[in-house]
Amino acid sequence: MNSIQRCRYQKVTARFINNSPLAGDMAIISEPQPLLEDFLDHKNNLIAHRFHKHDFFDNFEFLTPYEFKEYLIQRWTLSRYFVPWYCEGINNLKTRKRKLSLEVPGSLAGDIQDLLSYFMAEAKPISRISREQEKAVLQAAISVLTKIVEDEAPINAPSHRQDLLADLAYLGFKEDVFRTLPTIQTLETLKKLSKLVAYSDDQHYPLRTMVTYLVAGEEAVGAEYKHTWPRLRYDYAMTPKKSRFYYNHYKHDNSESGSHTLSFRDVLGMMIVDGKTLAIAKESADKALEARLHFFDQFTGAPKAIKTVKRSLAMAPLLGEGMVRYLRAMAAYQKEEYLGLDFSSLEEIDLNLFPSAFD
Ligand SMILES: [Fe+2]
Ligand SMILES: [Fe+2]
Repeated sequence: MNSIQRCRYQKVTARFINNSPLAGDMAIISEPQPLLEDFLDHKNNLIAHRFHKHDFFDNFEFLTPYEFKEYLIQRWTLSRYFVPWYCEGINNLKTRKRKLSLEVPGSLAGDIQDLLSYFMAEAKPISRISREQEKAVLQAAISVLTKIVEDEAPINAPSHRQDLLADLAYLGFKEDVFRTLPTIQTLETLKKLSKLVAYSDDQHYPLRTMVTYLVAGEEAVGAEYKHTWPRLRYDYAMTPKKSRFYYNHYKHDNSESGSHTLSFRDVLGMMIVDGKTLAIAKESADKALEARLHFFDQFTGAPKAIKTVKRSLAMAPLLGEGMVRYLRAMAAYQKEEYLGLDFSSLEEIDLNLFPSAFD
């Protein structure tokens, strides 16, 4: 943790430190943290080697204009759930904080609970982070997520949802946007993402939640638009000035300088305190990225087939136009299969997971 981060960390927890007899313990947590750096390295490697190497992004340049448009429109259906998904996590963290507030440390009930935790954890010492400290960390986590949701829908400015619609209208996709429903794969992605932040009594649930939002909600978005933005820029003449949504998200979710991604560091520094929490954070990052990549799996069939055709053409000039048409037809068929709106298995998806926020 550098001096700026430490300063921000102390600001976040200042109220607690000033009022708590456990300030000494907090000082231990604010030491420089190689564990956090270890986690950030793991997460960066995931983005570099798993995300960017995914078939969809590996073949991004081979997407036809039609496929690129299909992807952007389907992506819109995923973006619509962004705020409800974050609100789900915020509510769950608040529930945990409320639960902790009901437990009075030092009371008979608190002592019995500590004793039970001690035996249930196979006689390992109880976490050195006390309930009061955990509440402070939870509050910091809630603040990070709340700030992002507030950024999504500022009071005196258009929401990101409106900005996205404006960009899609600029691209000429407005009508298609309103006709498109989420595919099964998109709904499955939402379900997977929702599961990763679902409430749990597991004491490491807040850590899993924050890592999921950092990786799937922020880093993956910035990484995705690293591919999308250049294509919008050069194929559709979209400039940073003309773009209200894509350019800003390409910038603010960037892992090196993005304000949203950086805002997770202090909280994760407080949560990743030993080998066990480091392992949990890494595992959560893996799962979050896999869930996020599930969305792109639905687009990989056709571009891959077209890539094969193009490579074959380059290698074997004798391959005639008829064969190219045949392979393209095969690719289109495969794509139809991927994108087909078959809602027969919709009952398996719990649509109540995302209530009310579909404005
Ligand atoms: Fe946004
Ligand atoms: Fe963001």
